Amino acid sequence: TVKAVIFDLDGVLVDTAIYHFQAWHRLAEDLGYSFSIVDNEQLKGVSRIESLELILKWAGVEKSEAEKADLLVLKNQWYLELIEQLSPDHLLSGSLELLKKLQEKGIKIGLGSASKNAMGILEKTGIIPYFDALIDGNVVQLSKPNPEVFLKGAKVLEIVPAHCLVLEDAQAGIDAARAAGMQVIGVGLEEHLKGADLVVADLGTLVDKF
Ligand code: G6P
Ligand code: MG
Repeated sequence: TVKAVIFDLDGVLVDTAIYHFQAWHRLAEDLGYSFSIVDNEQLKGVSRIESLELILKWAGVEKSEAEKADLLVLKNQWYLELIEQLSPDHLLSGSLELLKKLQEKGIKIGLGSASKNAMGILEKTGIIPYFDALIDGNVVQLSKPNPEVFLKGAKVLEIVPAHCLVLEDAQAGIDAARAAGMQVIGVGLEEHLKGADLVVADLGTLVDKF
């Protein structure tokens, strides 16, 4: 039985994955690297600094720690510009219905995101009141596929991992949930979500399951 659902944010609840892609794409172009959506799959769920390290590796470019810090500031500035107009309209299909259903059923709701921008995004989209636990990139040391983000969530929710269900759109997130000993449903395409207990196209499909 599922007593808590822990949601990833970008690409699961809110349509922000495209803006991360656009901002990384712009940065990669500046480094002389043509960044593809295939590359982008590998950045989903991964922290800002680790994403940059991957892009630098792919581009074959070396940067000092100070330069890397500047690049991260730049990427985030571009990302923040892109999400400035974010509103409840950017909630992905089925998000709100599922949050409401879980709340109605007394199932606890957590956020397990790598993003340091998570709070701002939840505010802009108006869904903060649904959450019993908010774990984001500001409180997590280890990036997905490490299970830290989900285990912290389970702890705050006071639900053992076996009774937690994670909803994820990234392979790193699926792997993290499994490493945490949780059930996991992938949202998106099966080819990017290996090892999920189930893969659905959008959250709307899940509303009737609770
Ligand atoms: C999520 C997204 C990644 C993003 C990471 C860090 O995991 O899927 O694309 O890089 O969060 O986000 P941040 O907003 O802190 O740069
Ligand atoms: Mg995601």
